[in-house]
Amino acid sequence: MQKFSLRLLSRALFVSVLASPFAAVAADKTAASFDAEHKVFRLDGGHVSYVFGVNERGELQSVYWGGRLQAGDRFPMTHSVKGHTTFEATTSETPQEYGGWGAGLQFEPALKITFPDGNRDLVLHYQSHKLTDNGVDITLRDIQRDVRVVLHYSIDANSGIVARSATITNGTTEPFTIEQAAAATFALPRSTDYMLHYLTGRWSSEWQMNTRKIDQGETVLESRRGSTSHHNNPYFAIGRDASVSEIAGDVWFGEMGWSGSWRMTIEQDSLHQVRITGGYNPFDFAYKLAPGQSLESPIFYVGYTSGGYGEASRILHRFQLAKILPGNGHPKVRPVLYNSWEATTFNVTEQGQIALAEKAASIGVERFVMDDGWFGQRKNDHAGLGDWYVNKEKFPNGLKPLIDRVHGLGMQFGIWVEPEMVNPDSDLYRAHPDWVLHFKGRPRTEGRNQLTLNVAMPEVRDYIFKFMDDLLTKNDIQFIKWDYNRPFSEPGWEQMPPDEQKKVYVAFVDNLYSIFAELRKKHPNVEFESCSSGGGRVDLGILRYTDQVWTSDNTDAYDRVIMQEGFTQAYTPGIMMAWTTDVPNGAENRSVSLAYRFLVAMEGSLGVGDNLNKWKPEDFELAKKMIAAYKDVRNTVQHGSLYRLASVRDNAPYSATESVSIDRKQAVLFAYLHSSTLRYPYPRLFMQGLDPKAMYTIRPIYGKADKATPVTASGDYWMHVGIDVQMKGDFQASAFVFETK
Ligand code: GLA
Repeated sequence: MQKFSLRLLSRALFVSVLASPFAAVAADKTAASFDAEHKVFRLDGGHVSYVFGVNERGELQSVYWGGRLQAGDRFPMTHSVKGHTTFEATTSETPQEYGGWGAGLQFEPALKITFPDGNRDLVLHYQSHKLTDNGVDITLRDIQRDVRVVLHYSIDANSGIVARSATITNGTTEPFTIEQAAAATFALPRSTDYMLHYLTGRWSSEWQMNTRKIDQGETVLESRRGSTSHHNNPYFAIGRDASVSEIAGDVWFGEMGWSGSWRMTIEQDSLHQVRITGGYNPFDFAYKLAPGQSLESPIFYVGYTSGGYGEASRILHRFQLAKILPGNGHPKVRPVLYNSWEATTFNVTEQGQIALAEKAASIGVERFVMDDGWFGQRKNDHAGLGDWYVNKEKFPNGLKPLIDRVHGLGMQFGIWVEPEMVNPDSDLYRAHPDWVLHFKGRPRTEGRNQLTLNVAMPEVRDYIFKFMDDLLTKNDIQFIKWDYNRPFSEPGWEQMPPDEQKKVYVAFVDNLYSIFAELRKKHPNVEFESCSSGGGRVDLGILRYTDQVWTSDNTDAYDRVIMQEGFTQAYTPGIMMAWTTDVPNGAENRSVSLAYRFLVAMEGSLGVGDNLNKWKPEDFELAKKMIAAYKDVRNTVQHGSLYRLASVRDNAPYSATESVSIDRKQAVLFAYLHSSTLRYPYPRLFMQGLDPKAMYTIRPIYGKADKATPVTASGDYWMHVGIDVQMKGDFQASAFVFETK
């Protein structure tokens, strides 16, 4: 039962936060309306209208999703699409908001159920509705059986983002099995020119941008791994045609709030209608629902803009800051952190960490984080996970001396954990070998020498909550880096009856969320980072509980330029952890200057991960200057509007981004050069999003502008005349601040 109340809580949060510094359009109390004469529902928010209606058969039919319409615009009664041939049933050709698999539906259903008598026909018709503060709840019911689906719709008054989810309830007298359950289906206007943008990758190379044309058939974006995955992120953006650019054109986009196996399908049918359906991944999915029980889907968030891919990203960024991240619409600015991982790996000791902390404090670091290696028999990645007691050899006096010293240096203290995992070589596994995901009697596949605890089990959930609660109660800790370093394998749950075991995909993640919710409630001043061997768990589900994410284990600064562009398509730079680290970087054996490394990391939430024991005095001097400069602009970088002035895609030699503060009084420009060739000068950069009339004074953080560049000029000047940056060589970077008085 707990999971339902928690999900409802998160939905309530979404509804309640109206005032926010990220407001684009004034809040509007009449977000949802119902035209009873024509049975048409309409949601209006931001620059978006979303319309659907009840057709003559009682199906809930998609009508319109796009730019905001006039208040007086009305839609006629919705009519189903006639089946054009015997091979295309009318149920298939009619775009439904949430179609059950039945009555000849040939495309992706939102819901598929097998009943105990073998019947698999499910036909959902409108039954009733209830307008809510910023949306509507619609109840659908099967035409014969008491299977009820409540579709929750809400629209964000500022961003126009529509949030949809479904609660499926068994009102019959027998259990049935859900085989496929989506949050929602969305329909696009009929067109043959849509271009799909999506993010793929793998460990250490997450956030790669891809584009493909949407043709007849189905494109599947998914994770079957039990978690969000490095390989495909639950994000999509669809441009109306190939001419849609960074700065203009119709874009529909969306993200899922789910940290387990997920799936989105983008399907073009034989009439060139395009539908997007997303929710739980139906692969290996079965959820048996007893009479009276409900299953709640994840939330699927979607948006629309006519302002191109750049504006689509900015809408998502603003929405995440205002409505998703902890902080009730006012997420805290991220402190500059130091993390010991790349400097020490598992060789953490009290003295070693204190030595690093002292050096970190001297350059302006605000949060010191001790990474892996401090607990159990953790000498390397073969042992110790699961045994969350302080290693006495490394910390003979416990953590207190280190924590006190870090606080004494004026920094916060953070620590690494990986609660959902266990090494077979651990006391926990020796005591509870049955606590891991496994199939009885079958081999257990290890990843990084570890197995996954079955967090769906109540005793495992309680174990994790208890040790985390103890850690935070007994130690003065301000920050937790929560890691998750392998995907599911053999996802059995032998303690459950065979036909209930597949519930693990849902129950695992629900329990994880409930642990976070309870920890945050009990320790409200502690912040969390979602890490999963880098960016393997970044989605709008986990982001309700975590303040920042680890972008990738690949910290090579040039690779990061590529990945950061991909990341910020979908997620705000305010949560994107970016560290400087030692060179040559292990990922590519590449050496770039410390200045370049800093400027790349300053595009997100800045961290330092170098071995400070190896730094020369001039490195400390440069770091001090860069960190001070970052503190000056971080509000703008983390919470402002991001413009991609030149893309690094397709190995472009030049790339540049600009962040503008919400009040448009400050802008920061970052420009990067891979390699100059054939004596070409750096291309001119044209600023965006400035106040045209305001006078902005430019000053460098690092690098030089052309001699002819004025010191002060209008927003119009910087946007139309632009700025020539002087850069030549390999892996060069420059940054400038523009400020009004
Ligand atoms: C993962 C993380 C790293 C580091 C190690 C520690 O790989 O992504 O940042 O914390 O685990 O084992």
